[in-house]
Amino acid sequence: MSTQESTAPTTTGARAPRPRAARSRAAREKAPRISVIGTGYLGATHAVAMSTLGFEVMGVDTDRSKVDALALGKVPFYEPGLDELLAEQLESGRLTFTADLSRAAGWADVHFVCVGTPQRRTSHAADLRYVEAAVSGVAQHLTHDALIVGKSTVPVGTAARLRGMIQPLVRPGLDVELVWNPEFLREGKAVHDTLHPDRIVVGGASQPAEQLLRRVYAQPLSEGTPFVAADLPTAELVKVSANAFLATKISFINAIAGVCDKAGADVTVLADALGHDTRIGRQFLDAGLGFGGGCLPKDIRALMHRARELGADRAASLMQEVDEINMAQRERVIAMALEACGGSVLNRRVAVLGAAFKPRTDDVRDSPALNVAAALHLRGAQVSVYDPVAGDPARRTYPTLAYATSVDECVEDADVVLVLTEWDDFLRSDPAELASRTATPRIIDARGRLDPVTWRAAGWEFTGLGRAAA
Ligand code: UDX
Repeated sequence: MSTQESTAPTTTGARAPRPRAARSRAAREKAPRISVIGTGYLGATHAVAMSTLGFEVMGVDTDRSKVDALALGKVPFYEPGLDELLAEQLESGRLTFTADLSRAAGWADVHFVCVGTPQRRTSHAADLRYVEAAVSGVAQHLTHDALIVGKSTVPVGTAARLRGMIQPLVRPGLDVELVWNPEFLREGKAVHDTLHPDRIVVGGASQPAEQLLRRVYAQPLSEGTPFVAADLPTAELVKVSANAFLATKISFINAIAGVCDKAGADVTVLADALGHDTRIGRQFLDAGLGFGGGCLPKDIRALMHRARELGADRAASLMQEVDEINMAQRERVIAMALEACGGSVLNRRVAVLGAAFKPRTDDVRDSPALNVAAALHLRGAQVSVYDPVAGDPARRTYPTLAYATSVDECVEDADVVLVLTEWDDFLRSDPAELASRTATPRIIDARGRLDPVTWRAAGWEFTGLGRAAA
């Protein structure tokens, strides 16, 4: 997602609000108008959520196709529940979309910056050009006092630098403040996470800015959501550390899964037992193919890079190890598929169940499932992939793989079946029925969700990660 300015007044959507040059402070104190810059997974959900909370909202993106789709009530990605809510909010007249950043800058009082911070192509560092363009674009077009609220995940130190960057751009006499308010939403649960967050973290806010944000978040705060006021670097680091911790938890259990394989133990039972300890908790202890997606991998790498820059080498080394363990899980599953086919997959039929980086999303960014499918294809396998929603994005990423339209079609005459994303459809499959469709009923459960006893009883040769005992 990119954010460059467009000058044409291109607001679209139901009953577009008219921009007004200046709003009185008193009016703003009643109900701030909100702009949301960037309408990807984070921004589109945030815009809809803010409108749901009763605010007038303008979503902004430089990608006209996204703006047009959203204005017509079409979410350009798969996110359960978002379509219905978008339609409802467009109907309310509170929510509009535009490709014109200057229009939003002149209209809103609070500007949420939700653009992407992808990994740079040539290093582990985050690419901040979209954040810089969004923040400076808003700043230079402001016509009245405003609060700029960064939500994108950025390396620590970015917000302070952005403050310096916008200072000369803001029209003299305007009161403009930039704060950081990281977002922790999970894809697949984005609507719930935005409307009912676990915590609201705000960094670097003056008292009036904090009061304004407390008004914006009045509803979740009234439900008891903790509000954490922090300085700018702490707020930036909270987000990065949360993702680093989740990634570490996953790599920890995957490392232990390796021990289970050697020792003849079962990592799923072990994880359940660990999870009963309330200090540990059961979440993010599912061993398997490891983490992917648009956040965890790039965020731990950006932290690695930034920690090295700051001379915090221990954190950098820890993240390096977490990343290595994670990537090794993909290698491990490739090796298991080769072994299952007698050492080579050349001209063997490999059925891959799952393409998305996790269930309940169509996101295939850094998807472990697709990586494994592509690697086996490179080794000469005839790979058939099936995913209930991510088929199209997967095909665009790896057009040379074959894509099936159902589980049954995918496993037809397969020499080995790989469960790489734990969609409910796959977990509910009838093992006996499925076995009859394959050339050889051989399955690798790379997400640890199938019951080996049931599948073996139905005639399958079953292997998993860390499931030696099962
Ligand atoms: C993550 C964070 O959870 C969220 O707070 C942040 O805002 C963005 O990054 P998301 O990328 O949507 O969210 O996915 P998440 O649910 O965290 O899963 C990440 C990856 O970890 C997936 O590939 C998933 O399959 C994997 N995972 C998760 C495991 O391998 N094992 C687990 O136990 C949990």
